[in-house]
Amino acid sequence: MKNMVVLSGTRSTGSLHLGNYFGAVENWVNLQNKYDCYFFIADWHSLTTGYEDTNNYVYNINEVVMDLYASGLDADKCNIFLQSKIQNHAELHLLLSMITPLSWLERCPTYKDQLAQLSEKDIRTYGFLGYPCLMASDILIYRADAVPVGEDQLPHLEVTREIARRFNHIYTEVFPEPKALLTKSKVLPGLDGRKMSKSYDNTILLKDKEDVLRTKIMSMITDPARIKKTDPGHPDVCSVFAFHKVFNENEVPSICDACKKGEIGCVACKKNLYQKVTEFMKPIHERRSEIESRPELIKKILEKGNENAKIKTDETMKLVRKAMKINWD
Ligand code: TRP
Ligand code: SF4
Repeated sequence: MKNMVVLSGTRSTGSLHLGNYFGAVENWVNLQNKYDCYFFIADWHSLTTGYEDTNNYVYNINEVVMDLYASGLDADKCNIFLQSKIQNHAELHLLLSMITPLSWLERCPTYKDQLAQLSEKDIRTYGFLGYPCLMASDILIYRADAVPVGEDQLPHLEVTREIARRFNHIYTEVFPEPKALLTKSKVLPGLDGRKMSKSYDNTILLKDKEDVLRTKIMSMITDPARIKKTDPGHPDVCSVFAFHKVFNENEVPSICDACKKGEIGCVACKKNLYQKVTEFMKPIHERRSEIESRPELIKKILEKGNENAKIKTDETMKLVRKAMKINWD
């Protein structure tokens, strides 16, 4: 399907980390060569949990654009835009909110999880409950066919499809039901073995330079059963080993064997990993330096993406108003 519309977004809650990269962005970089792609910074979504502290709001947007560029997204091949610059998203969100039953939002597993996990924040808000409805608007307004996301986003995509079906059923058929494009996920845990996440403070950022990388990798948690080098290890419980699977595929069998036999030490194993991660990061850091030295590039990238996003979403909004028979003109 040549003209398949692919859309995805990332929240601007801070600089991107390797979990974001392998969970989504790496996939986007491949897709931009094949489809009609729209990738955006979901800055409004970052307000759903971070509405109180907006001091870094603009800084974070710029960070994400630089990280996307550094990862290899190319504004000549895809559209990179900013959600809050495309106000049509807000209009569609409002209209879709009229037809979205509360129960669909309340039963969404991500909603329940986050309420429990972020107990120190007051996110019992209308906006946070409506997170999936805003996300549905982001997707449906491009009449997207496919949405490349990590598994954690599947419940939101399910709500999106339900909202699309309900709209098409009540009015007329406007929205295709978008499907998820899951990355054959390379599972990269955080430094401490839990999921890599900003809120656990266990991330490696795409922009982390060599000295930071070294400190972080050397501090990674390994198999707790290994005290001496000769103790037999269990690579499967070790996050360093999980990293080797991603960054150093060739050596995985030999490291696995040597670890189990107690023939390599964890320090040497980490140093080896550090080399591989630095090599991997090299082109990313080069592109990051390039865009850091040309700040006008951020503006240029977004201007082009915003313009195309505006055209596409204007078209959809016309269809939506017509289908709903709410056009006064
Ligand atoms: N919820 C997504 C995340 O946290 C970000 C997002 C917002 C998104 N709108 C979207 C992703 C639309 C895909 C499509 O990663
Ligand atoms: Fe992990 Fe490597 Fe140590 Fe084995 S040798 S426990 S794989 S760091």
